[in-house]
Amino acid sequence: MAIAAAKKAGNGKPGAKDDIEEVRQAYYDRIAKRGMRPLWKVMDSIVTKEPVSRCLPAVWHFDEVKSLVMESGSLITAEEAKRRVLILENPALRGESRVTNTLFAGIQMILPGEVAPAHRHAAAAIRFVLDGEGAYTAVEGEKAFMAPGDFVITANWAPHDHGNTSKKPMLWLDVLDVPAVNFFEASFAEDFDAPTQETKRQDGDSLSFYGSGVLPDGTAVTNRTPVINYTYARTRPIVERMMQAGNIDKRHGARVHYANPVTGGSVLPTMGAGLSMLPKGFKGERYRSTDGTIFVCAEGGGSTKVDGTVLEWRPHDVFVVPPWKRYAHSAAKESVLFSISDRPAQEALGLWREGS
Ligand SMILES: [Fe+2]
Repeated sequence: MAIAAAKKAGNGKPGAKDDIEEVRQAYYDRIAKRGMRPLWKVMDSIVTKEPVSRCLPAVWHFDEVKSLVMESGSLITAEEAKRRVLILENPALRGESRVTNTLFAGIQMILPGEVAPAHRHAAAAIRFVLDGEGAYTAVEGEKAFMAPGDFVITANWAPHDHGNTSKKPMLWLDVLDVPAVNFFEASFAEDFDAPTQETKRQDGDSLSFYGSGVLPDGTAVTNRTPVINYTYARTRPIVERMMQAGNIDKRHGARVHYANPVTGGSVLPTMGAGLSMLPKGFKGERYRSTDGTIFVCAEGGGSTKVDGTVLEWRPHDVFVVPPWKRYAHSAAKESVLFSISDRPAQEALGLWREGS
């Protein structure tokens, strides 16, 4: 009524627009006190025509990361810290413990003789091993010894602990769906009394049982892979063979995605990962997708152009491409890139899109 009155009163006269704005503002102020807000004032910013990411492209160079992580080894033990991890924070999301809006990334180190005690949490985790050899992750009764390039899965609520029985520090990239879990406000976590779990299965059992083209009788169909460790020794020769066979995508190179061998789906419902080989001199076509993606250079060297930003990468460097930003890889040498994103979650929700 007030707006109609203002319109009527101000019809065709100077100052009419101001009158309406004043009346509207008074109305907005009044409804704000009742916990309401006019959609028409915010529509364009909440229902955007295209994805708007808060993230920035960024790279973390391993030589610098390693020396800073090593420094933390003299400051705190793995047991005290529970997990000795340096979080890789997106430069646009400082203080938010995340590398994209939905994913956490960090570099974890475990020194010889250390144990990172057993716990479990609602957030799912993956590790991609960067440096060192012979430390283990025990997950759900299997002790998986890890080597560089191995991709290790810790599904939602799976008990896990880490130990290093080797003589060298081990460093790996941790990626968790923590920000997504916390978005849903669905986080649970618990510690166990004993620092290590009993393991009944040998190293490599789950890969042998489920990742060999056969399945043990009675294998359950679940939305997470039963394989604990997708070893680099098994996966790298596949992308190499694809490359030699000329099976090279113009944007992604010779790429495989890690699959749940029971369903053919992604390894986890919230995160999916892949490994690609780029031939020497590769100049990828530009690509974009709605899943912000974390990459690790496993081998080689090159650069990725994200809009106007060029991210140079060498072995074990980690870099992030925000959602819906155009990017293109170039490889100066034959290179292997690991990648991980929230694509399965977006696909399950019908949101995922790609483009050029
Ligand atoms: Fe954990």
